[in-house]
Amino acid sequence: MKPYEILLQNNKDWAEGKKASDPDFFERLSHLQTPEFLWIGCSDSRVPANEITGTDPGEIFVHRNVANLVINTDVNVLSVLDYAVNHLKVKHIIVCGHYGCGGVKAAITNHDFKPVLNMWLRNIKDVYRIHRSELDLIADEEQKTNRLTELNVMEQVFNLAKTSIIQRAWKHEQRPDLHGWVYGLQNGLIKPVFEMKAGAAIDNLYEYDDL
Ligand code: CO
Repeated sequence: MKPYEILLQNNKDWAEGKKASDPDFFERLSHLQTPEFLWIGCSDSRVPANEITGTDPGEIFVHRNVANLVINTDVNVLSVLDYAVNHLKVKHIIVCGHYGCGGVKAAITNHDFKPVLNMWLRNIKDVYRIHRSELDLIADEEQKTNRLTELNVMEQVFNLAKTSIIQRAWKHEQRPDLHGWVYGLQNGLIKPVFEMKAGAAIDNLYEYDDL
């Protein structure tokens, strides 16, 4: 069997198993999805949103990219956000980074990763610059990377709060709450590092007053 054929076989086994334990599972899910959560995570293959949170298909709406970034001009993440907030009406948005993130590690080096990755990683370098006074004091490279991972998650939560999509939902529907988490590859545990409840105060430079 070729490697990709194993995936297809696994899929058949999985579908049969699901049906056996819950005969209406697929029928039910095919009609609607009503997830309460939007997950913005890293593309890293070791951080599967459903598996590490013990959730089933239909429970989490997922967006993943390198180093879980929320970029102001990224039509992809903003489309996912718009759909999740305005159509699915999610109650919580989770930005989940992870310790040992290759994207975060790469961003601290001075290596030229060539245009597209350089463009993407620049956003993490900007997070470093904002928090340079704290990060420069950490001598240990791994600790520095870990702290940057936490600060990156916090900045991405801020980036969510800066959007009119979030501010409008906060004003009119008092949701969603925003959560910044970091997953540990070494112990499988998620550490909550930052939170903004719906309606939290933000830097008024980014505040829209005519939503
Ligand atoms: Co990563």
